[in-house]
Amino acid sequence: MKLTLKIWRQAGPSQKGAFETYTVDGVSSDWSFLEMLDHLNDDLIRKGQAPVAFDSDCREGICGTCGCVVNGHPHGGEPGTTLCQRHMRHYSDGETITIEPWRSVAFPVLRDLIVDRAAFDRIIQAGGYISASTGGAPDGNAIPIAADDAEEAMDAAACIGCGACVAACPNGSAMLFVSAKVSHLAMLPQGRPESALRVKNMVERMDEMGFGGCSNHRECEAYCPKEIPIRHIARMNKEFRKAWFAERR
Ligand code: SF4
Ligand code: FES
Repeated sequence: MKLTLKIWRQAGPSQKGAFETYTVDGVSSDWSFLEMLDHLNDDLIRKGQAPVAFDSDCREGICGTCGCVVNGHPHGGEPGTTLCQRHMRHYSDGETITIEPWRSVAFPVLRDLIVDRAAFDRIIQAGGYISASTGGAPDGNAIPIAADDAEEAMDAAACIGCGACVAACPNGSAMLFVSAKVSHLAMLPQGRPESALRVKNMVERMDEMGFGGCSNHRECEAYCPKEIPIRHIARMNKEFRKAWFAERR
């Protein structure tokens, strides 16, 4: 396949960016999207030009590092699929593909397609953990947990922190990400004792980091590669209200 790529190039956070057009030839439909970018970069390096900077690590849909907006769709728009898992068979010979970074005030562009997602780390640091010692694995397994709760908590724990939910949302909201973390811990007995403090601190930090609010567009859910449902946002709002009222009692 021969493709035309329109890629956002930006030398640094304070530099002005612009789309550059490249042609890649000999692209196999069996390649992943990132292998296609590797192929482009090999060519750019051979020509003495700067390769396109993009993030990746596991390339198996696990780490949450990769992610760009492709033809207007975060992660390329294939349901339940990260960009590293997307294959070139979804594109046709001669097609033009536009590739740009996540766009959000809270995720400044570092270079080309790489954004700084430290805002997510700050939210986790505000409460996305259990501080009490929970013992070893046998201790954890000794606590009975209803099967439905365990399933729901594990589904929320599937969030890989990629940021596609923020990129997809017209408000740049991080509520799907935060609610997945809040749900995951609040639904397990080990996470309950700190649930009120956790939800308050995480939501507060989320607002400080410059993310927008949720107005039910549901784009986050549509583009989440782990198909995290927005019912977690409803659960987080409930947890937040409970914490707020408990504080004022
Ligand atoms: S909720 Fe989904 S889209 Fe958002 S960070 Fe987690 S995995 Fe990515
Ligand atoms: S590189 Fe790890 S999820 Fe894509």
